[in-house]
Amino acid sequence: MSGEDGTPPPLSPEEASFLARQRVARLATADAEGRPQSIPVCFAYESGTVFIALDEKPKGVEAKRLKRVRNILENPEVSLVADRYDDSDWSRLAFVMARGKAELVEPGADGHEAAIRLLRGKYRQYERMRIEENPVIAIRVERASSWGALTEEPEPPRLEDTLFGRRSVRKYLGLEVSDESIERVLEAGRWAPSPHGRQPWRFAVIKKPETKERLADAMGESWRENLEMDGQSSEVVEKRLEGSKRRLLDAPTLILVCLHLEDLDEYPDEGRRKDEETMAVQSLGAATQNMLLAAYGLGLDTSWMCAPLFTPETVRESLDLDERLIPHALITLGYAEGDPPKRRSRRSLDELVVFRD
Ligand SMILES: Cc1cc2nc3c(=O)[nH]c(=O)nc-3n(C[C@H](O)[C@H](O)[C@H](O)COP(=O)(O)O)c2cc1C
Repeated sequence: MSGEDGTPPPLSPEEASFLARQRVARLATADAEGRPQSIPVCFAYESGTVFIALDEKPKGVEAKRLKRVRNILENPEVSLVADRYDDSDWSRLAFVMARGKAELVEPGADGHEAAIRLLRGKYRQYERMRIEENPVIAIRVERASSWGALTEEPEPPRLEDTLFGRRSVRKYLGLEVSDESIERVLEAGRWAPSPHGRQPWRFAVIKKPETKERLADAMGESWRENLEMDGQSSEVVEKRLEGSKRRLLDAPTLILVCLHLEDLDEYPDEGRRKDEETMAVQSLGAATQNMLLAAYGLGLDTSWMCAPLFTPETVRESLDLDERLIPHALITLGYAEGDPPKRRSRRSLDELVVFRD
């Protein structure tokens, strides 16, 4: 991986992955005379830049008058430390220290909106805060150092932290995923609920670049036909195909989730046959979600791609799979390059729920 201008990134993949996974860091600033201040901050990281919101937690001080902001305006040199401490096992301790220059990105300025999406993607608490009205602190990392067991598995997060922390990741670091981790993810899929306990799904694991390429090319061809049928311009078609292929090639591991209907209950009527199939698809979703959540708990990241659903035969052929398998979804699996931005707001519970006492 290298910076946009070809310079090597200041953080190694292991450091970037560790940093992006932490929920809190310590930001050190100093005023013009070098008097230091250090405070805990929530932050998001992407491609060599750390972003910190100036939120509206009651601090009793207008954002621009906060000591950290005044320090940055006087002296942009800052340092940020994210660490892991484990009292019961000191072999797991680790930290990453990023140093660089901080600046304030004002609302409306280039990059402000993207930074807000990044921060809201990571912390759902920011959804309800008007952080977009304040500048964002952006630290362009120039140097990084680290120590300890950066690649150790994190402490298993609480279930709620997993549910709310998982995000679809579309950019991965070039770090391999261990076979043990892949197996643990698959094992979580195996334990999903299913109709009559029949487990009407099968998984194919793809790691080799040449196999990924074959699959991406095969799916790309049939997607091309669909896009052209939709009347998309050839420029748009090529761009979308290239983006989709990149995503498959850049993800260290792919898990193809297939429907397997052989063991379902048989019914004489079409209606119940269809219902049985719907249940199988429902449980394929449960197995997929189990794997996404298990991966997140192991310190990995994922994304769910629906492309195989539209071209199951092509996918089956390109991977030489049993003909009873119906490809439905791809899970990309790896280590996020940074915090993924928030794409859309979640609907409120008021919109989603009715209560009927
Ligand atoms: C059935 C299903 C199919 C999806 N297909 C795709 C896909 O093809 N490409 C993609 O980028 N994301 C896909 N997603 C991911 C959603 O876009 C994503 O879950 C949603 O925007 C919410 O964001 P989050 O997962 O980061 O919380 C899919 C999700 C589901 C459940």
